Amino acid sequence: MSGFKVEKIAERFDEEIRFFKSWVESPKAMGTICPTGKVIATRMASVINTGSGLPVLELGPGTGAITKAILRHGVKPENLYSVEYTASLIPHLEAEHPGVNFIHGDAFDLQNALGEMAASRFDSVVSALPLLNFPVGQRIALVRDLLNRLPAGRPIVQLSYGPHSPVPPDWQTYTVEPLDWIFRNLPPARLWIYRRIATA
Ligand SMILES: C[S@@+](CC[C@H](N)C(=O)[O-])C[C@H]1O[C@@H](n2cnc3c(N)ncnc32)[C@H](O)[C@@H]1O
Repeated sequence: MSGFKVEKIAERFDEEIRFFKSWVESPKAMGTICPTGKVIATRMASVINTGSGLPVLELGPGTGAITKAILRHGVKPENLYSVEYTASLIPHLEAEHPGVNFIHGDAFDLQNALGEMAASRFDSVVSALPLLNFPVGQRIALVRDLLNRLPAGRPIVQLSYGPHSPVPPDWQTYTVEPLDWIFRNLPPARLWIYRRIATA
């Protein structure tokens, strides 16, 4: 096996160990026992419009699989704001992705977490938050809060492991569409898109 392949496998294993350690410490915050796979991370990043010139908001970067895909998609590190609740994950994220604005904070309290970016508009939101572990009312409030930070029509893309949208529709304020089932993820995952209705 080539040195490059061995390095890649070691890197992947290291990511899984870091993820698993965080899961042992806080299973509810992590939501699943495996880091997000490359196929799903790439699909999530594909909704970002890098031409908008607006920053991008990531929620729950974990070990950074989706962060990596967002940067690969062409977002400049300094244009990415990424809010992570588990403090122990931040140093590795910062070391792996220099220039990205990692924020140790709570996605359900963005007004505080975002600091001087609290009043900014973002192009889109890419979220791996384990929403099913939070009460439905809190999920709806989060989606409404996030959509108020985006231009009308721009998406929140959300990863989830159930067959249904983790956030129920609210046809007066926002739409909900399935994006993809990704069977090549462990466990198989589904992507959902939320968009603010232009008049809301
Ligand atoms: C399913 S894991 C993310 C998986 C990630 N894509 C990876 O490959 O490592 C969910 C992440 O959301 C974070 N999280 C949970 N609740 C949060 C909250 N309220 N605010 C910000 N991040 C949160 C967890 O700490 C965890 O890193």
